[in-house]
Amino acid sequence: MMRPSLLIRQLRIRPACSPRLFSVNRYSTATSTAAAAQTPPTVPAGEKPYYITTPIFYVNAAPHVGHLYTMVLTDVLKRWQQLHGRPAKMCTGTDEHGMKIQQAAAAADMDPRTFCNTGANSFKSLANLSQCSWDTFIRTTDKEHHDAVQYFWQMLLQRDYIYAGKHEGWYSVGDETFYTEGGVEHTLDPATGRKIVLSKETGRVVEWTSETNYHFRLSAMKEKLLEFYKANPEFVVPAARYADVVAAVEAGLDDLSVSRPRDRLTWGIPVPNDDTQTIYVWLDALVNYITASGYPWTPGQERSGGWPADLHVVGKDIVKFHAIYWPAFLLALDIPPPKQVLTHAHWTMNRKKMSKSDGNVVNPFYAIQRYGVDSMRFYMARDGGIHDDGDYSNEHIVERYRHELQFGLGNLTNRVCGVNFDLDLARAEAFTDVWTLSTRDQLMKALPTTTAIDVAEQMAALDVPTAVKTIMSIIHETNKYIQHSAPWSLRKPEQKSEQNMVIFLSAECVRVAGIMLQPFMPDKAKAVLDQLNVAPEKRSFDFAAYGKDDSYGVGTKGKKGLIFPPLSE
Ligand code: ME8
Ligand code: MG
Repeated sequence: MMRPSLLIRQLRIRPACSPRLFSVNRYSTATSTAAAAQTPPTVPAGEKPYYITTPIFYVNAAPHVGHLYTMVLTDVLKRWQQLHGRPAKMCTGTDEHGMKIQQAAAAADMDPRTFCNTGANSFKSLANLSQCSWDTFIRTTDKEHHDAVQYFWQMLLQRDYIYAGKHEGWYSVGDETFYTEGGVEHTLDPATGRKIVLSKETGRVVEWTSETNYHFRLSAMKEKLLEFYKANPEFVVPAARYADVVAAVEAGLDDLSVSRPRDRLTWGIPVPNDDTQTIYVWLDALVNYITASGYPWTPGQERSGGWPADLHVVGKDIVKFHAIYWPAFLLALDIPPPKQVLTHAHWTMNRKKMSKSDGNVVNPFYAIQRYGVDSMRFYMARDGGIHDDGDYSNEHIVERYRHELQFGLGNLTNRVCGVNFDLDLARAEAFTDVWTLSTRDQLMKALPTTTAIDVAEQMAALDVPTAVKTIMSIIHETNKYIQHSAPWSLRKPEQKSEQNMVIFLSAECVRVAGIMLQPFMPDKAKAVLDQLNVAPEKRSFDFAAYGKDDSYGVGTKGKKGLIFPPLSE
């Protein structure tokens, strides 16, 4: 146990009037108990749940489709783990401190807390509406988080990773980041002709700041970081962004300013024992990932809340913070960094990044209302960019819906449950080996099993868009097969067995696709599996192979339901 008096060293920049001792009992906060209570009871002792996170979103503007995308990707990856029977936990939430929020609240003429409540509610509504199965919705204004951040700060200080000094540089409020002279360009504002300075990286306006604040010894972390990257070559996915990160660190790191004077930034967590300074919003925000796993941990309980995270899912705009600063902070404290960071590309509108600040955004609430949750989840997962940006298009959404869902999956499900066919009987025959299979039939028989293996590999590589397309390829193939084999024309008694074979081989493809689609479209996949009468306990990934389920199909004859009704105009 640490003694608080050891922690307050020569760190005060200006003596604060009444130094507050940092004396809360860190090991009995509500956080650890709450997180422990959230851990599913099914986690075997010593094993931690799969822990996956989204970024916590700034509450300065309403959520848009970009945020929906990250939430859906994260939720799909979580549910994919659960499909394998693994306990999993997902954390999302809101980033509520910093200059950007302080200014937005002031502009709205609201007190920051009320302003944040509204913002947090709208992100939470989006998470719920989009069926994201979050376990923790964290807000950086939560008491437990405030305590965790101050504790984290004290630990960095105790290890001498934080020092006070003068800082000069270009600050972008939009990015909440300092840039060096090399990172900015001096130019003229096209609208007004006035001189402005912009960040080269993000194109956002910066302003010159000269102030005294605390610094983190990021430069001292260079070798440790490089070692860590070397030992974890898949730390950042995709590989091209991993290479960028390594190159940036190899080029050398400057120390990082980690606080702002309180007279400029009041809306944030105060530096412990120095209330003239506010903790930098990015340090505050990154700590959310461990707060949500019960930090500061009770000794022996370090893993039960899920840490180290298996995966942080983030947009490519915030790679530096997650792949450099965050592991640097953690390594400084000998806390294991997250296992992986999946960085995805952006949704654009007419090829320009969708962004709250630029206002070219799609309202995800309207989109979900218009197309339905599962169709939007499908579109996000299928057409969202990982390497390259994806351009948002209503025409594409409609086209995917009609082609892949309505006439693809929906139609096929109806076909195999058609009045002319008896799936139950067909299945019974399949297990007695009475059919003679042509080469084409044999290919169909192999399809569900081989596809499931491919999809599992693609999901393990975090390539969600490819995985969706692979799953849908079974549907396309099966539709072609059924069209070609025309089971409805096999009406003579001696053709009954062949008809049964075509129906069964097709049904197996629908069943396996239905199982694998559950993480992507929870309700629609359930409707497909319900229509096939697949028992609830036979819907896990173990059953995603040919012939794995010997009891479904009963009573499906003529069972039709419009799973994907025509879109209203
Ligand atoms: O950066 N396309 O919050 P933020 C795809 N609070 N994804 C997009 C997107 C787009 N056009 N626009 C935003 C912050 N996103 C910090 C994070 S984490 C400790 C702190 C998604 O509200 C994407 O995930 O600006 C991106 O990284 C995130 O929203 C940024 O959200
Ligand atoms: Mg942003």
